[in-house]
Amino acid sequence: MRISFFGIGYVGCVMAGCLAGQNTVIGVDTDPVKVELVNRGQPSVYEKGLQELFSVAHTKGQLSATTNYEYAVRESDISFITVGTPGKADGTLDLSAIYDVCGRIGEVLKQKQTFHTVVIRSTVTPGTNAAVTEIIEQHSGKKRDEDFAVVSNPEFLREGSAVADFYHPGVMVVGSTSQYAVDLLRELYRDIDGEFTAVDIGVAEIIKYVNNTYHALKVCFGNEIGSICKALNIDSAKVMEVFCKDKKLNLSEYYFRPGFAYGGSCLPKDLSALKTLAEECGVVTPVIDGIEQSNQERIADAIRMILRYGQKQVGIIGLTFKEGTDDLRFSPILRVIEELDRQGLTVYAYDPFVDGRQETAEISAFFQKYMQHYPVTLVGDMDTLLRQNSLVIVSNNNKKYAQLVRQYPQVQFIDLTGQFGYREYPNAEALTR
Ligand SMILES: NC(=O)c1ccc[n+]([C@@H]2O[C@H](COP(=O)([O-])OP(=O)(O)OC[C@H]3O[C@@H](n4cnc5c(N)ncnc54)[C@H](O)[C@@H]3O)[C@@H](O)[C@H]2O)c1
Repeated sequence: MRISFFGIGYVGCVMAGCLAGQNTVIGVDTDPVKVELVNRGQPSVYEKGLQELFSVAHTKGQLSATTNYEYAVRESDISFITVGTPGKADGTLDLSAIYDVCGRIGEVLKQKQTFHTVVIRSTVTPGTNAAVTEIIEQHSGKKRDEDFAVVSNPEFLREGSAVADFYHPGVMVVGSTSQYAVDLLRELYRDIDGEFTAVDIGVAEIIKYVNNTYHALKVCFGNEIGSICKALNIDSAKVMEVFCKDKKLNLSEYYFRPGFAYGGSCLPKDLSALKTLAEECGVVTPVIDGIEQSNQERIADAIRMILRYGQKQVGIIGLTFKEGTDDLRFSPILRVIEELDRQGLTVYAYDPFVDGRQETAEISAFFQKYMQHYPVTLVGDMDTLLRQNSLVIVSNNNKKYAQLVRQYPQVQFIDLTGQFGYREYPNAEALTR
């Protein structure tokens, strides 16, 4: 393929070097020194293995650089945008270089007769794909997906191991409205072993932030545990080594699906105990301290969402803190019920895990006794609840509830669990989607 790169710094150089072996690559940069270096077969940055890739591609005549945008766009079918997007003092990103490059690409596309694919590889904020599309349409007078495509394809490499990261990424994320462009990238990346994952543009645009924020969270969480352990004279490295051995709950997908607040008898209690322990040791742990506040905010979100419907009465499916248990202790939906009552709403509820007697019209004595502290009327079967309430909140995760959303189209559901895709279930608004 014929590829151009706009910005031949770390990301542009590494990608250009890695792709030049099997493609023809033209680098573009405003810095003539970098252009000169590439034209001599040298990358503008140091990365292990990159010089070798450049030397091979340079000898084969497959890698060159220029300051001439027009030449680069004319002589390529795919343009990767790899310019810098530095952070500004207010926390937003400076995307001016992206917009500048895309305006120039648009000018060239005005005269170009063949389809052109523009790939945003730099780290950008959600909405950039749409903004870039508009800029290119304005400058070129051409139409998205008819004459050109814009793809969001974030870069995940780490400096120091960038070449290896390029060939072996954790995942390869691509978002575009153009199926042609998605297939083109699939072909370009056919030898890259990270899973090629085509997603909505919004997902592709935000994933880099999500990844890096999580990485930062991991560092700070590990360090807070380290500080607490140090104060208690416990080997923190061993603690985290053991922590990482648990691939079932700790290092896994478990707990990661956006949904409702946590509850139950263990998480709130043990979190609070560790927080108190840290305080007693004089260790400041803002990450650990913030967890409970974050949990309360999701409960507050749920309450706001329910109140927005302006109903005087609501039904709730699922009272226990999670599916598959009859444990009501610290169940977050109970906080929601209390607040709805304070706001004057009448609340009905059904829970299939009432003392293990699922799907019966009986409500166990224990359950009734526990729930008498809460302003809610228990209903013995789901059908009754769904017939008597036009707004129903699903607070427990159970695949069969998806059927309910289809069976009771007259009911507006609020899904606190994140189990109903918003596209498939238009009558189920979700808390986290
Ligand atoms: N460096 C990393 O480890 C890394 C990893 C993943 C993602 N990213 C992201 O990739 C993007 C590029 O990062 P980088 O580290 O390669 O930056 P960099 O500063 O090394 O390179 C950017 C290049 O773009 C050039 N440039 C600036 N404006 C230009 C313009 N209008 N036209 C042509 N060239 C222009 C600069 O001269 C520079 O050579 C950023 O958005 C960054 O956040 C970086």
